[in-house]
Amino acid sequence: MKTHVISVLAGDGIGPEVMPVAQAVLDSACEGSDVELRWEERPWGTDYFRSHGRMMPLNAIDKMADTDAIFLGAVGHPEVPDAETLWGMLIPIRREFDQYINLRPIKSLPGVRSPLANHEGIDLVIVRENVEGEYSAVGGRSGVGTEYAAAYQQAIFTKHGVSRAVSFAAELASERNGDLVSATKSNGIVHTMTFWDEVVAEVAGGFPEVRLTPMLIDALSARLVQSPQSFDVIVASNLFGDILSDIAAATVGSIGIAPSANLNPEKRHPSMFEPVHGSAPDIVGRGIANPVGQIWAGAMMLDHLGHPDLAVDVELALRSVLSSGLSTPDLGGQATTVQVGDAIVAALAGK
Ligand code: NAI
Ligand code: MG
Repeated sequence: MKTHVISVLAGDGIGPEVMPVAQAVLDSACEGSDVELRWEERPWGTDYFRSHGRMMPLNAIDKMADTDAIFLGAVGHPEVPDAETLWGMLIPIRREFDQYINLRPIKSLPGVRSPLANHEGIDLVIVRENVEGEYSAVGGRSGVGTEYAAAYQQAIFTKHGVSRAVSFAAELASERNGDLVSATKSNGIVHTMTFWDEVVAEVAGGFPEVRLTPMLIDALSARLVQSPQSFDVIVASNLFGDILSDIAAATVGSIGIAPSANLNPEKRHPSMFEPVHGSAPDIVGRGIANPVGQIWAGAMMLDHLGHPDLAVDVELALRSVLSSGLSTPDLGGQATTVQVGDAIVAALAGK
């Protein structure tokens, strides 16, 4: 029996609603195999913040370091500044565990309405650099409270950081159809983005089977809406990747179905799997949150833990349930979170 210990951070808002449903689906996918998941629940997030003044304990990183993966719901609460929740939990986990790749697969799903008329056959992956770039703590303010008030934010791009993200993306492209698009803005952002372009070209040059196309982020965003089918692998900096992945997720329907993985590809530290969506305070407590994003993130976790067969089982089960028309209200259905989860468990049992 292979046992994986998983740190469970259900977090805030709808996180604790979709998390148990996803855990039940993953447990049932493992049933009858030689894989077992042992869940270590960590009650961190905004409630913890209110009683302790921090999002998670000081030794949180140490506590999770020996676990095999982190399964995250969502963090964020309307009464706590987002900078507190993000920099108190998500960003430290990504950086301490060197989860330098954020991977977001985007695929058309059956039974899911899309805002696009032409939304069949979308199948792309966004590889976002996850630990440096525009999201940096370097900067500050001056002249506070005066008419000369100013703010400065320093983007940081390193050769090491850009190279490893591009290597990962080029490797992935070479396993897919060989097309790699790089998101840039070197016409306007003349220091960091020209550097990005140079490193991307150098690294991609080491993959003769990969066809690299640098594309300006504004034109790329438009094309992502007009013809998402024309993309396969996109590599982007932290900020550009963040924005592109929400646009891409929107093209296939609800943000409630999109998964993401924060990877330490060398597996020196645990990786973290989470849905793309946030804590959705507007629907919390109603039992109608779509659990598919959390479940699909769980499938990515099974794949990363070395069980691609189980990951495929979960994906096929959720596809078959969606194509049967059973869905939560965000997809136009009337089912509850738990009903969708139960149907996916039943589909797995019948596989
Ligand atoms: P959000 O993703 O929480 O919600 C956006 C819209 O999508 C809302 O109308 C919501 O009801 C809907 N939605 C999201 N997930 C859904 C699901 N599973 N089923 C059905 N509908 C769903 O983004 P928003 O409103 O910008 O942020 C809310 C809070 O979440 C903020 O505090 C934000 O900082 C945080 N957040 C956290 C993230 C994370 O934990 N990784 C990611 C994004 C936002
Ligand atoms: Mg985002």
